[in-house]
Amino acid sequence: MTTTQSASLQHTSAAPFGDRTAKTPLIAFLGTGRMGGPMAANLARDGFRLRVWNRTSSRATALAEHGAFIAHTPAEAVQGAGILITMLADGPATERAATGPDGFLDRSPGLIWVQMGTIGAKWSARLAAIAARSGVTYVDAPVSGSEGPAQAGQLIILASGPDRVQDVLAPVFGALGRATVWLGPAGDGTKAKLVLNSWLVDLVEATAEVLSFAGRLGLDPAAMVELLKATPLGSPYAVQKAGSMLAGDFTPAFALKHAVKDAELAVQAASGLGTRLPLTEALLPRWRDTAVEHADDDLSSVYVTA
Ligand SMILES: NC(=O)c1ccc[n+]([C@@H]2O[C@H](COP(=O)([O-])OP(=O)(O)OC[C@H]3O[C@@H](n4cnc5c(N)ncnc54)[C@H](OP(=O)(O)O)[C@@H]3O)[C@@H](O)[C@H]2O)c1
Repeated sequence: MTTTQSASLQHTSAAPFGDRTAKTPLIAFLGTGRMGGPMAANLARDGFRLRVWNRTSSRATALAEHGAFIAHTPAEAVQGAGILITMLADGPATERAATGPDGFLDRSPGLIWVQMGTIGAKWSARLAAIAARSGVTYVDAPVSGSEGPAQAGQLIILASGPDRVQDVLAPVFGALGRATVWLGPAGDGTKAKLVLNSWLVDLVEATAEVLSFAGRLGLDPAAMVELLKATPLGSPYAVQKAGSMLAGDFTPAFALKHAVKDAELAVQAASGLGTRLPLTEALLPRWRDTAVEHADDDLSSVYVTA
């Protein structure tokens, strides 16, 4: 593993797959949705031994072609596993997989549980507490990057948890992402994710608003995007989303329903600290309204109501 100038940013090992996977325990993977599906596929393709579960089993079956065992319940998935990855929609779904009927908790002593969904600070703390009561090591490691980076194994892993698990998880994170940042104790990864996604939703809202504003001014919005691209103002993400907005192509990479959830999680976290995120708060009512019809569309669909 090489380390960049930043002490905590670690790039993927260049060691061959066999070396990287041989010492890694069996991995259970719960949640094979838009992100989890390609992440699990990358692990299986890299030779990790994998057991997967998804509530809707048809979204997991393709992984059998990569050698993964398809489990019927979280409890079955975790049998014999040393590492468990959860990539579920939110905190309630993740807790249910842990402690609900056929939940995984208490099924695999010594388990390292790597929680990678975006679930917010309160839920991460709550899951860390139930893990501790069951003797499970909890690692909080949400990701930056959407469907394309997940498919390409190019995510950035916002990892947090005990130092002692970093070595065993390095090859796993290496298969999923292009870099891992270890941020501190479990929970700090989720805090960093809240910061990034607050920035992300504000940027998408600003993009939608200015394109709409340009059109109302009688300007060609596409020409304004070209102008933004020619200046330091045009961030690659905003320019990409502007392209989707102007094309009316809302094929989901990051579903609006999850973006609304993340904006709400950031606003709640700020409120819990006695502070506010006025920009993020201001976009939420319109985004919720837009999500009535566009919940499963990409978040760039907020342009239709801007
Ligand atoms: N897409 C992105 O760009 C992106 C980027 C970074 C992080 N994230 C975060 O990663 C997580 C997964 O996102 P995604 O884009 O993969 O979403 P997704 O395609 O909607 O997948 C959600 C997953 O959660 C499962 N699930 C939802 N509700 C459930 C419940 N009540 N009980 C059990 N399982 C349930 C789904 O199972 P079914 O298949 O049965 O519905 C599916 O496996 C979210 O927290 C999201 O915010 C997403």
